[in-house]
Amino acid sequence: MDAAYRKGELRFSAHSARLCSRPFALSPHMSTTCVIGLLWGDEGKGKIVDLFAEKADYVVRYGGGHNAGHTLIHEGETLVLHLIPSAILHSEVTNVIGGGVVIDPFHLRDELGELAGKGIQVELGRNLLLAETCHLILPLHRSLDQLSEQQRGQDRIGTTGRGIGPAYADRASRIGLRLGDLLRPERLRPALRKIYDNKAPLFTESDIDLPSADQLADELIAIGEQLAPGIVDAGHRLRQAQSAGRKLLLEGAQGVLLDVDHGTYPFVTSSNSSTGGIASGTGLPPASLDSVAGIVKAYSTRVGQGPFPSELSGEQAEALRKAGNEYGSTTGRPRRCGWFDAVALRYAVQVSGTTEIVLTNLDVLAGLGPLKIATSYEIPGRGPIEGFPAFDLDLVEPRYEEMAGIPGDISEIRSYEKLPDEARQYVEAIEGMAGAPVSLISVGPGRDQVIHRGSAR
Ligand code: GDP
Ligand code: IMO
Ligand code: MG
Repeated sequence: MDAAYRKGELRFSAHSARLCSRPFALSPHMSTTCVIGLLWGDEGKGKIVDLFAEKADYVVRYGGGHNAGHTLIHEGETLVLHLIPSAILHSEVTNVIGGGVVIDPFHLRDELGELAGKGIQVELGRNLLLAETCHLILPLHRSLDQLSEQQRGQDRIGTTGRGIGPAYADRASRIGLRLGDLLRPERLRPALRKIYDNKAPLFTESDIDLPSADQLADELIAIGEQLAPGIVDAGHRLRQAQSAGRKLLLEGAQGVLLDVDHGTYPFVTSSNSSTGGIASGTGLPPASLDSVAGIVKAYSTRVGQGPFPSELSGEQAEALRKAGNEYGSTTGRPRRCGWFDAVALRYAVQVSGTTEIVLTNLDVLAGLGPLKIATSYEIPGRGPIEGFPAFDLDLVEPRYEEMAGIPGDISEIRSYEKLPDEARQYVEAIEGMAGAPVSLISVGPGRDQVIHRGSAR
């Protein structure tokens, strides 16, 4: 890369156009690619997966659970998916829930019911496969998530309350139940009783009413019977597909800064949401990834607690929230909003191995006046700091570069040349600081509201 990153300061560089000569993510020779969120989630991954799925044979979720909320808008209809991969509207694509995903069987049953109610064709075993090794989220995990948040009080993580953390904790403690256990009642019943015994002390002082282990086992076995045609050795199927030259698209949930190892710990989720989670969450070999499309919004948002250096408050935050309709797709919570953070972006691009950037929500910034990009961090009293720190992020103050505002409405523009100069300057500034080309720009929530930069030149 160039010397754009000097002394902790990110600089705009005129060479950015050169960076854009790479092919678009799903070019014909690429067989395995992934879409990941680069910051704190909700970057528009659902929309981009739905778009890329036109050229994919398999679309695979590899981590997280129904904490995710991925929005697709097609022919005026809005669909928010939580567990089901975002290619479900493409009936020829095989959607796969990989083994790294934690599944709440009750939620999965309901989400499938909702899709059926909307007339969306889901055939277990044909266009939806479920890895038998997915760990289960049980009602007690949901209760433990909520209990632990209450106990943390001011220090709460701001989780989605879906039981994600406790389910992954049981996986690591080697007492978790897996999807395949639903098909084996003789294993399920004693294993469930063991988990109940293990967790009982945690509930003694709470007024939480859990179903009995036997009642829950009955319900789980019934759901297992419904899901059975879809429960498979997904890793084997994916490796076979890859060897046969099929096109695989891995769908990330959350974002790099929510990754349990590389995110803003402890204010993170409990899985490796960056590309590190792909091999373990699918059973595909680590070296099989051909390209990584990192998705980032043209400004920053975060739901839940934790440091957010470029966060805005007051009227400016409200203006962004209103323009971008920034409310959580899973919990409905207002998203915290802030300026674009190029320090965080560059870190996320490097950690994830992003080969090209998809910049979403550029339309939201149009008409909002002068814009700012965080280009470096400093800690008052300690001076500038290099890169994106693992500690003390709550103490940093960003330095900003001001950019001209984007005039007018850009949501109907489909070619890069037709964007106002100010918009192109903004995109190229980001690209120069990111260390990867911006190959696609999204200018609205609809599938067709995109500007392909590769083809624009
Ligand atoms: P995900 O979790 O990354 O899939 O993102 P979400 O679906 O949670 O949130 C993204 C939101 O932005 C959704 O409401 C999308 O419909 C919307 N969206 C996606 N791309 C764009 C865009 O380019 N412009 C605007 N205005 N909205 C977008
Ligand atoms: P998508 O895939 C945004 C956040 C929660 C909380 C933290 C931990 O739609 O981008 P958890 O319930 O996972 O234990 O919560 O992670 N979080 C998300 N924020 N988008 C998501 O998913 C998220 N999934 C989890 O708000 O701060
Ligand atoms: Mg979301």
